[in-house]
Amino acid sequence: MQDFKVKLSHILSEKAKELYPEHEISGDDILSMLEYPPDTSMGDVALPCFKLSRTLRAAPPAIAAAFAGTDFDPALCTVSAAGGYLNFKVSGTYLGNDVLKEIENAGEKYGSSHIGDGKTVCLDYASPNIAKPFHIGHLGTTVIGHSLKKLHEFAGYKCIGINHLGDWGTQFGKLIVAYRLWGSKEEIENGGIDSLVALYVKFHAEAENDPSLDQKARDEFKKLEEHDPDNTALWKWFIDLSLREYEKTFKQLDITFDSYAGESFYSDKMPEQVQILRDKGLLKIDDGASIVDLSKYNMPPCLILKKDGSTLYPTRDIAAAVYRKRTYNFDKCIYVTSNGQSLHFAQWFKVVELMGYDWADELVHVPYGTVSIDGKKLSTRTGNVVLLKDLFAQAIDKVSALIEEKNPNLENRDEVAEAVGVGAVVFHYLYNSRIKDINFVMEDALSFDGSTGPYAQYTYARTCSILSKAGGVPKGGKAVITADEEADVLKTLAKFPERVSAALADYEPSVVTRYIIELCTAFNRFYHACPIIGADDVDVKNTRLRITAACNTVIKTALGLICLRAPEKI
Ligand code: ARG
Repeated sequence: MQDFKVKLSHILSEKAKELYPEHEISGDDILSMLEYPPDTSMGDVALPCFKLSRTLRAAPPAIAAAFAGTDFDPALCTVSAAGGYLNFKVSGTYLGNDVLKEIENAGEKYGSSHIGDGKTVCLDYASPNIAKPFHIGHLGTTVIGHSLKKLHEFAGYKCIGINHLGDWGTQFGKLIVAYRLWGSKEEIENGGIDSLVALYVKFHAEAENDPSLDQKARDEFKKLEEHDPDNTALWKWFIDLSLREYEKTFKQLDITFDSYAGESFYSDKMPEQVQILRDKGLLKIDDGASIVDLSKYNMPPCLILKKDGSTLYPTRDIAAAVYRKRTYNFDKCIYVTSNGQSLHFAQWFKVVELMGYDWADELVHVPYGTVSIDGKKLSTRTGNVVLLKDLFAQAIDKVSALIEEKNPNLENRDEVAEAVGVGAVVFHYLYNSRIKDINFVMEDALSFDGSTGPYAQYTYARTCSILSKAGGVPKGGKAVITADEEADVLKTLAKFPERVSAALADYEPSVVTRYIIELCTAFNRFYHACPIIGADDVDVKNTRLRITAACNTVIKTALGLICLRAPEKI
């Protein structure tokens, strides 16, 4: 709509000269005042006249009425005054020329912006705990995190994606003890994470009867912290095995990270921070442990060192934040985890602030709702989990069967089945606002009807097929809009840049997911109502092809922003 706004602001500035000759208002001034009304039934663009009332020395409703009383070219827009607002409805024909030209010029950059130019954002997401399976509880952090990375990149930010692996802590002591008591090398090599989990579960079961095991585990972790070579070798092996499995899932999602610096990476970076805490008098000893008292801020204390001097999750996060600030000089550092960790982040963000780091307010926690299965909490120990690899495999199988039935000669069948199967699960997840708790139901995640990933990808493939049948799309020329369905698609296309900025501002990929459905629905309505290649008039046909090409561009871009691929044929 940018072209329309520029044109409109010139017209309004000319009209202002006639209506209020004693004052000067430039087109640029007006351009900066124009807004998109939240409810488009009022208009497509609005001028809030209170912004002019000081300069023009008149009440906003009087200004709105004065402008609305003048003639506007109906080929451009219609105008109405509502209180202190002037509302403009853009004509279909103008919109066609404006939006199509904008999309044709910008291509896959349509909807992007420059607000992040020159700025750096670190995004900490996925971050599974080593030796634990990657399950649906991790889907949120992974896909919300990656989508936020794409949204930031689209807005010009330089992004550093960090997989803050949970590769440090007492659980490694437990695994080492369990492995030495009950494990075998061969079994673990073959069984991978599943065997490690089995050992972990056994450890907990045995520790119920034999509490000395817990002390042994703490001792082994302490030895690991002191670089004991045997424990270090075992620990590295657990990490390698786990990463090998995680990588398969990340690959299916097309996700790569810029850094895999996990919690262990900060081992030698913590003492400096602990010393600063001590020097600033922030550390208190409580039952032998070192804590930062946060009662003034209505929060429980932040634990820094255990009784035995070993470090904790918050200690590592503090050291990691300082390291990232020094290494990347971020303007923002974003952490995506379930809302179960909100208190943890609030606590250590506060500690960073108390330490005097003036960038504490650049740390952002982006929480998402908790996932449960059948209303019950996920638990690796009791087996109440759905592994992502299994979920993806089921989705891919379902798509493969459909392709077999409907399009058996499709090229790259496996690739397409993966893109659509994995995409269905991701789309389903990102459709709801992130903070909503989710009760996971397998059939819903694998449903392809209604507002789903497969529907969006299928619509994209439909645009590809029309464009390839047409054998070329005219660019430019005069758009001729003859149907409401065409105007609706154009208006939906025009909304894309705003939706992208809203998704970014609220850290909310679902805004894009829902937009995709809105656009696909508008496109399919247009497709059913208006013959495209078969249109009689050549200008009408060209316009419809241009609309199809614009949808093709925008659906693909939008799918990419929420981590979905866009196969050209399904
Ligand atoms: N490993 C943690 C978990 O699985 C998530 C880590 C989130 N990032 C962070 N910097 N604390 O719960």
